[in-house]
Amino acid sequence: MIVCHCKVVSDREIHAALAGGARSVGAVCRSTGAAQDCGSCIFTVKALVCQHRQQEQAILEVDGAAS
Ligand code: FES
Repeated sequence: MIVCHCKVVSDREIHAALAGGARSVGAVCRSTGAAQDCGSCIFTVKALVCQHRQQEQAILEVDGAAS
């Protein structure tokens, strides 16, 4: 799915940036080029970053419960 139509950035590229160490909306935008033009995609980028953080937190909680 294309997240940023101005810079043609997909959700896969956003996920790749997060997997590669981007830890903020700004870092993801700098890494991928998303939200660098009209800015209308910023809320979708933010939602993907939040979703990624929630998944990381859930994994940490499961790991913590298992140990
Ligand atoms: S849609 Fe992303 S900057 Fe315009």
